[in-house]
Amino acid sequence: MFQEKKNLFIPGPTPVAPGLLRTTSRPVINHRGPEFHELFGRVRSSLGRLFQTEGKVFILTGSGTSAMEAAVANTVSPGDKVLVLVGGAFGERWAKLAETFGAQVERLTYPWGTAADPERVREALAKDEGIKAVFATQNESSTGVANDIKAIAAARGDHPALLVVDAVSSFGAMELDMDGWGVDVVATASQKCLMMPPGLAFVAFGQRAWEAVAEAKAPRFYLDLRQYETFAAIGETPFTPNVHLCFALEEAIGMLEREGVQAARERHLLMRDMVRVGLSALGLEPLVKDERAASPTVTAVLGGDLDIPRFRRIAEEEFGFVLAGGQGELKATTFRIGHMGYMLPVDMVGLLAVVELALARAGKKIELGQGVKAAQELLLERT
Ligand SMILES: Cc1ncc(COP(=O)(O)O)c(C=O)c1O
Repeated sequence: MFQEKKNLFIPGPTPVAPGLLRTTSRPVINHRGPEFHELFGRVRSSLGRLFQTEGKVFILTGSGTSAMEAAVANTVSPGDKVLVLVGGAFGERWAKLAETFGAQVERLTYPWGTAADPERVREALAKDEGIKAVFATQNESSTGVANDIKAIAAARGDHPALLVVDAVSSFGAMELDMDGWGVDVVATASQKCLMMPPGLAFVAFGQRAWEAVAEAKAPRFYLDLRQYETFAAIGETPFTPNVHLCFALEEAIGMLEREGVQAARERHLLMRDMVRVGLSALGLEPLVKDERAASPTVTAVLGGDLDIPRFRRIAEEEFGFVLAGGQGELKATTFRIGHMGYMLPVDMVGLLAVVELALARAGKKIELGQGVKAAQELLLERT
């Protein structure tokens, strides 16, 4: 089989828009010169619009976890009590990061495949005035659960804890009104819904969170945001940034804004619904039962009696479609489909056709065309 063309349906990195890829072959520019200063100023202020904040936005050269680490290292001091919402691998990543920086971590666990209950956040905070921060995941990529950050922020109420949110696999596809909802810190990355290659991370700090940065006692150097703030005043970063990805970022934000942020959100919801309806027509069950908690960007699917590794291998090797395996405690029982970034709803038709072919080859009794048909009908109905 022609092995060059791979269709990525994984929860990141996602397919990169060709226009963005072209920017990465431009001649490099001086990251301490006027052309970069102007570019940096433009992308920072556009990012502020996407984060929906008047606060400070930082561009880091690193993956999403570097933005998460910057969030922790700049807000937490050793010994601080923090509450971490854990219902999947990325909630657990917040907990491990906070522990690494010496915090006393209280895990508020919720079953994998369900959303965090804002009432439990309210109760946990009501019991302890001393909690310094609450860490949450907007879109838990390991389970395909979208958490209701607006409701979690409302549940935090007047409690002084900062609300810190991982939006790595939702930024650009789900609403997150940072200032309007009272979210203090948001971390995200380039390689998901922004349609870019991996390599840049973004972290935004609201006013209250920025005040906490000066107080935080955790050791930090590369991710010391005070240095980034000093350099941002002259349109630079303290350390060499990935200049090419800054070019790509400007294009990516332009693409998103030309489509319209609301239209992009609706596109992701339609992709999600097409995948869910197509899978259930094939007798496959999504892990997330509650529609309201179903992620617009990634769907975890229960394999049942399916040989998942074989099914994924067939999809990739025979048909060129790359699907993700399960993660953490769901590793053996689920596979995941990423439907985010540079994708159209109609791409879900091809995806479901390949799911059908690979299921048939893997020995599952299905009627070819059933999943595709259900998705096509939904597409016609909704467009
Ligand atoms: C929700 C979520 N948080 C954090 C990360 C970590 O991002 P990275 O792998 O870019 O460090 C990911 C990556 O898949 C993610 O999906």
